[in-house]
Amino acid sequence: MSFFMEKTKITKRLNQDISADVCVIGGGMTGLLIAYKLRCSGAKVVVIEKDRLFCGESSRTTAKITTIHGMKYADLIKNSGFEITKKYYLAALDGMNYLVDTISELGCDCDLEKIPFVLYSKKSSEKLLSEYAALSRLNVICSLTKKVNLPFKVENAINVENAYIFNPVAFMNTLANELDIYTETKAVKVAGERVICETGNVSANHIIVATHYPFINSLGLYFAKMYQEKSYAAVFENVPEFNKMYYCTENNGYAFRPFGDKIIVSGNSHRTGKIYGQDKLASLIADVKSYYPNARLVDSWSAQDCMPPDNIPFIGRYSKFSNSLYVATGFGKWGMTSSATAALVIDGIISKHKRPYTNIFSPFRKTHSQGRRQIVNQTKLSAKELIQSISYIPVKEVRDIPRNSAEIVRIEGKKMGVYRDVNGDLHYSRAVCGHLGCPLTFNSSTKSWDCACHGSSYDIDGNIISNPCQK
Ligand SMILES: Cc1cc2nc3c(=O)[nH]c(=O)nc-3n(C[C@H](O)[C@H](O)[C@H](O)COP(=O)(O)OP(=O)(O)OC[C@H]3O[C@@H](n4cnc5c(N)ncnc54)[C@H](O)[C@@H]3O)c2cc1C
Ligand code: FES
Repeated sequence: MSFFMEKTKITKRLNQDISADVCVIGGGMTGLLIAYKLRCSGAKVVVIEKDRLFCGESSRTTAKITTIHGMKYADLIKNSGFEITKKYYLAALDGMNYLVDTISELGCDCDLEKIPFVLYSKKSSEKLLSEYAALSRLNVICSLTKKVNLPFKVENAINVENAYIFNPVAFMNTLANELDIYTETKAVKVAGERVICETGNVSANHIIVATHYPFINSLGLYFAKMYQEKSYAAVFENVPEFNKMYYCTENNGYAFRPFGDKIIVSGNSHRTGKIYGQDKLASLIADVKSYYPNARLVDSWSAQDCMPPDNIPFIGRYSKFSNSLYVATGFGKWGMTSSATAALVIDGIISKHKRPYTNIFSPFRKTHSQGRRQIVNQTKLSAKELIQSISYIPVKEVRDIPRNSAEIVRIEGKKMGVYRDVNGDLHYSRAVCGHLGCPLTFNSSTKSWDCACHGSSYDIDGNIISNPCQK
């Protein structure tokens, strides 16, 4: 549960067959922004959400609105060329402006605040300087600085003034009030122009899959292209005042953003399912307490996002073979601006006024050589995990599992994931992922069973927390 998840209302279940111009599947930031944009363009739009509203990743984000998506631009110029990079930046800028304009147009009280975004390096200036050169080439207004309000030594930093923070749930709540939404309505499959749900169907001329990780396997083959990364976030009070947000350029560094008089610190990312026994959330909390000994923990959570092979999201037609089915995914942990970009891109395609950057997001674009290597590695890892899943023979018995621990055990010939909670009660989950059969690993920080292949997560009782698994 994240700190943002307070302001949730709307519930209405689909229990009949209906029709609309557009059906958006998924009521997260992406689905809601796309639906709102298309509704403003005059379409009759229906959103269906499998859960209650705001249970997805958008409620567990840290909600920094910026065009600076980490150390993106120098690498993108090197791997994809300057023209594509320029289009990516323009798309991010359009997305950010659209998001901020929509917030003010709707008069939404979501704590929107303009504060500088600072990229900092603890180790070396070199990579940061090449990012600074890339940003300057793209005409981003930014400056180098060594003055940062952080509790450790920083080698160098880039300050970008044009950035914002907000409360994503408050904003999604405002968007949701503008839309026709069915909750607890799961899309089971798409058949032509019909979305088949568990409790009714929606016929629509255009269908948009905004389910975070795309849930249709047979088209698009997204499971062969994307994996997921999990990160951790914690809110602290009794800390010094922050008036900027900070993002570390090194993999093991933390991001900081103010939240009123508190701060949200996030980081310790890893491929979902590859945790190697460490408690990543506990180590984040311990690190922050070592920086600020008086800090008090208020809340903590984890979230995950889809990582595309070339660091560019997939937005557009779902596959070469689908003309009226669209997708928006692969935001690489920058889905606040990228979901707004997705709304502009998909609206442009449907209204036949394509945005100038539409093609760079095409889900069936050619990926550069480094991206192709990631796809090959992704396939190899999935194959290895599958073999491991089939060949693993559990050696432990349920009675061997101590409190607050989990093991894969064999029960009546079937492998199960079993967690014994702090009170000694047992919880049974699956040991093998319901998506494509890879093995699950227990994450002690989140008390979840996670899959390394494409990132599905299950709670201790086997309920799905994160896509792509739908079973
Ligand atoms: C730790 C962390 C910090 C982040 N911080 C930032 C940040 O500061 N700035 C930024 O720009 N980005 C950030 N991101 C990324 C951002 O949070 C995500 O990219 C974004 O929230 C994804 O939104 P979404 O709508 O695609 O997914 P979601 O919010 O998960 O929405 C998808 C919805 O689809 C529903 N669904 C799934 N399957 C079905 C189905 N079959 N039928 C009906 N509904 C279905 C789900 O229930 C869910 O509600 C962060 C990510 C992480 C992991
Ligand atoms: S998420 Fe694809 S096999 Fe688990």
